[in-house]
Amino acid sequence: MLAGKKVFLIISGGIAAYKSLDLIRRLQDQGATVRCCLTANAKEFVTPMAVSALSRGPVYMDQFSLKDESEMGHIELSRQADLLVVAPATANILARMAAGIADELATTLLLATDKPVLAAPAMNVRMWTHAATQANVATLKSRGILFVGPGEGPMACNEYGPGRLAEVPEIVAAIAAALDPRRPLAGKRAVVTSGPTVEPIDPVRFIANRSSGKQGHAIAAALAALGAEVTLVSGPTALADPEGVTVAHVESAREMLAACQAALPADVAVCAAAVADWGVDGIATQKIKKEPGGAPPSIRLVPNPDILATLSAPGAARPRLVVGFAAETENLIAHAQAKRARKGCDWIVANDVSIGTGTFGGDANQVTLITETGSDAWPALDKRAVAARLADRIAEALS
Ligand code: C5P
Repeated sequence: MLAGKKVFLIISGGIAAYKSLDLIRRLQDQGATVRCCLTANAKEFVTPMAVSALSRGPVYMDQFSLKDESEMGHIELSRQADLLVVAPATANILARMAAGIADELATTLLLATDKPVLAAPAMNVRMWTHAATQANVATLKSRGILFVGPGEGPMACNEYGPGRLAEVPEIVAAIAAALDPRRPLAGKRAVVTSGPTVEPIDPVRFIANRSSGKQGHAIAAALAALGAEVTLVSGPTALADPEGVTVAHVESAREMLAACQAALPADVAVCAAAVADWGVDGIATQKIKKEPGGAPPSIRLVPNPDILATLSAPGAARPRLVVGFAAETENLIAHAQAKRARKGCDWIVANDVSIGTGTFGGDANQVTLITETGSDAWPALDKRAVAARLADRIAEALS
């Protein structure tokens, strides 16, 4: 996928720097050549020796090294690669990039380059959400700097939130997308459902479920990264809208179906939402009162439309590829295969959501992709890595 590509990796000084060692290997696995530059702070986290050994080449660190300058000046160095990647990108290096400061070799190269730059931020959650960092990121984005991540989750500093370095496969996918002028899904339209649906009982009460929307949102972002024009139809979640994606915010299953149909025609539909199977019959227009000594009200449920089955139904508006999800707690493959037939979709992404797997709300997912030709069990991956892999498979199928 990256054969013949030259990646110049700038490692700045954060605890996530150790993951850059794996990034070097994964890029090489894809056929890329990787040259590396360490900031002064990065040397506190990874050794030049390890980086040199893994990248099989010199490690650039010193702005005033006569040896480096006589062999290749910093301007040349900043331009010989196809892409500059800053991973991890600390709050400090993002601030220096935004301000145009060239105080060491890494920042000088970033200022001197005429090549695209991709940054993978990694820092403490408060540093990431700080107004200064957010303003720097906005400035850099407005100048065309590409970003991957950060992810959200537990951090080395014992805090939780956004700021974690994106997973290595996700960074590799972002590098491939940045280097791939073809953008394999350019011109293709996608509809993705995500999150739970919320079924109102009365104006203040509702029935919902534990879906976080992480997997569906990640799929929308991954398809957009490959160039697709994506409409994400999302139930209520705590997640930010993915960049470069049109988002329709909905609540009930009926609203979700209507928003999906409004987004057609599409080449691919991915139904990752945890749609409530039933809605409430006769939603009360006023808050149901608790009368002293009165019997609890009964709620009658009525079946909701099946969005996946509706989008899969043959007809002119059917997307060429319809992908559903199957969350199962037993007989994963057999149940998922039966679901594929029953719903009429092309593929099913099957995952085990038994208690203890941590799939619901968690960051990792171990899925099996079931297609017309068989089943393919993927290793346990971060949900964004699952999304990147699924987007690649979709791009292949639609090519
Ligand atoms: O029937 P079940 O809920 O197990 O099927 C799961 C798949 O069907 C998921 O892809 C989900 O998004 C989709 N689905 C739907 N509309 C429903 C119920 C499920 O799109 N009403």
